[in-house]
This record gives sequence, C-alpha cells and structure tokens, in this order.
Amino acid sequence: MKRISDIDEMIRTCAAIRSEGKSIGLVPTMGALHDGHRSLLKIARGRCDILVTSIFVNPSQFGPNEDLAKYPRQIGKDCALCEAEGVDIVFMPLPNEMYVEDYSTWIKVDDVSAPLEGERRPGHFIGVATVVLKFFNIVTPNFAVFGQKDAQQLAVIRRMVRDLNVPVEIIAAPIVREEDGLAMSSRNIYLSTSERKSAPAIFRGLRAASRLFANGEFDASILCRRVRHELSSFEKLAIEYVSLADSLTMREQVNAGDGSLISIAVRTPESGTRLIDNVILGEIK
Ligand code: PAJ
Repeated sequence: MKRISDIDEMIRTCAAIRSEGKSIGLVPTMGALHDGHRSLLKIARGRCDILVTSIFVNPSQFGPNEDLAKYPRQIGKDCALCEAEGVDIVFMPLPNEMYVEDYSTWIKVDDVSAPLEGERRPGHFIGVATVVLKFFNIVTPNFAVFGQKDAQQLAVIRRMVRDLNVPVEIIAAPIVREEDGLAMSSRNIYLSTSERKSAPAIFRGLRAASRLFANGEFDASILCRRVRHELSSFEKLAIEYVSLADSLTMREQVNAGDGSLISIAVRTPESGTRLIDNVILGEIK
C-alpha cells in the first residue's frame, strides 16, 4: 500500500494508472475510520483495479464553532485498517497544500444544500462539494462511494456531479450500525456513558416510523411525531430537526412514499455531541 501526501505526485500516479487502462475507485474520508468506512472500502474493492482512499480532515467544511481542532486523528490505525481492506493508495494531503494561501474557488450547490444540515451548518456543503470535486480532479476515479449515513451530502454530491458533468459514478452505501442500532460515527467517541446508553433511541424512533409507513401511514407529521415520541425517553436531548423529505431533492414532503427520507439531527445534553441518522422508507421493516 502506497501513502501519498504530495498532490502533484498523486495526480501523476493516478494519470499513469488510468493510462494503463486500469480503473480507479475512490472512498473519500476524514479518517478515524470505523466499520462504516470499512464497508465503503469493501464495496469499492470489489469494483475496481486500484482502490484509493483519501484521509483529510477538511477544514473548509467545519464551522467556526465546530470540532475541527478536536476531530479525532489516528493516522497509524487508519492506515492499518486500509491495508487490511486491500487499499492500494492512501492519499493524505496537507491542509495548506489543498488550500493555498490565496485559495479562491468554491463550489456552491444551491437548492439541495439549503435545508436541514445546510441551514444548521452554514457553508458546510460548500466545503464538502469543493473538497470532493478537488479529489475527483486529482484522483480521476471511475467511481466514488459515499455512505447513506450522510444522506444530504450524498444528494449534494449527486447534484454537483450531474450539474457539472463530472465523469464519476456515485455509489451509495448502506448505513452500518452498532448492535444496538446506533449509526457508527467518528463522533460517537465524544458521547458520555449515559448518552451512549440513550443514543439507540434515535434509530428506534426511525425504525418505528418506518414500520408505521409499512403499515400504511403516509402522513409526514404523524411519521415525524413517532420519531420524536421515541426520543422523549432521552432526557434533555435537543432535537434540531426531524424531517421527511425527498431523498434526491431534500424537499420536505407532506405525504411519504417509497424512497422518502426521514432524517434527524440531535445534540446530546452532556457532551454536546451532534448526531445525525436517517432511514429511507420502504428499505427497513
Ligand atoms: P467521513 O465523516 O469520514 O465519512 C466518510 C464516508 O463514510 C462518508 O461517505 C460517510 O457517509 C461514510 N460513513 C460514515 N459513517 C458511516 C456509517 N455508519 N455507515 C455507512 N457509511 C458511513 O463524510 C465525510 O467524511 C466528508 O464529508 C468527506 C465526504 C470525506 C469530505 O470531506
């Protein structure tokens, strides 16, 4: 497994791979890798000649009061996981080389970026779309894999790729959960013991709403209320939103249908950890 930090070296290496007629699969990450990331690597590994993963804690997608400084960094452990999953190249550029001093170009995806995460984290998707397009330009992958865990991120990337005619296939990977249902996240390590105990209520709520839908309930407000009801056992939890939206456009829906997305963001009371989760209706019973 190669580790490359230099951007020009990465461009040259990937161009040489493509010129040999080999395909490249890309899994972009911010490191602190867990079984969720691992599942993306497995999906990608089975579909390409050369598997590239990027590990880069992207400063431009963090707000001024967010956790950029304390975001978990564990490059040695991450590289061992990548090696075990058959990654060929780990790309880990330096922040000041990705964003040179007079860096000036930003990708703003309107509409689909606006609600939900976009509303609570202004500028977040500008940072995400920009860094992902930079990775696509550097790596020139045939495809890239993104997790359904960040459903709006996936929708934003899909829209960017469509609108800018980016020749990269976008593949969605299902959410990987702990045994008790909590969606795996690099931020779960921030949770206090009691928050960790209560956190599975998030998925219980989403699953309960999903079952209501399977039994014929289409009313968005009833489905969202069902999610909130389950969370009432999680004392002092701040719910930022519970939304029922179209999973491609992220527009709120009054009536749910197959493929509607129920998504939720909460902030935990003790550690102040922000957790997001979602289900696509019709996908789980
Ligand atoms: P990061 O949070 O490290 O996530 C990298 C990829 O792993 C994303 O596509 C995310 O959706 C996926 N992922 C995270 N937890 C998952 C889980 N429990 N199950 C399935 N997939 C999961 O998302 C980012 O990094 C960044 O925004 C990035 C796209 C790398 C741009 O900086």
